[in-house]
Amino acid sequence: MATKGSFCLLLSTLYIACTVATPTNFIKSSCSRTQYPALCVESLSVYASIIQQDPHQLVQTALTLSLNRTESTKAFVTKCNKFRGLKPREYAALKDCAEEISDSVDRLSRSLKELKLCKLKGEDFNWHISNVETWVSSALTDESTCGDGFAGKPLNGKMKESIRARMTSVAQVTSNALSLINQYAAQH
Ligand SMILES: *[C@@H]1O[C@H](CO)[C@@H](O)[C@H](O)[C@H]1NC(C)=O
Repeated sequence: MATKGSFCLLLSTLYIACTVATPTNFIKSSCSRTQYPALCVESLSVYASIIQQDPHQLVQTALTLSLNRTESTKAFVTKCNKFRGLKPREYAALKDCAEEISDSVDRLSRSLKELKLCKLKGEDFNWHISNVETWVSSALTDESTCGDGFAGKPLNGKMKESIRARMTSVAQVTSNALSLINQYAAQH
């Protein structure tokens, strides 16, 4: 009985050790504390081989993903802006949105450069990471404002829906990146 008990204990210890020590589980446990954990795991697991179990690499990948998605959303909004037959109010809403998303791209790419400084010896980690937190948080505000701007405006139904859907999805990716950055800052 005692032997059987110890054997089970050994097995479960091994099981836990094996469960914890994979990049995928590292991603899952980090993502569990974000606001959209399923999206976080789904979008970052693809990069498990790059991320490994390195907190800096995890954050850098999440931020790069947010920048990439924001850039392609910017391209989409810019294309909608060239759509003929927009009413002046629709045009104004799109123009505001294009400016906000463009600011968001700038802030995210600045954050990515700043984040890279966090890893360098002799650099002030706390200073750089707090800049990253501030800029990503503003980028998220820009993305949310852009989506909200269409709420009451009489934009062409289909276009309005597709812009709002894209804005919501990109804001979720950025929100996740921000949570991971906050975790990284807190753990340092
Ligand atoms: C971001 O975009 C670049 C250039 O298109 C691509 O090489 C890279 O894999 C993308 N990374 C992520 C995390 O989305």
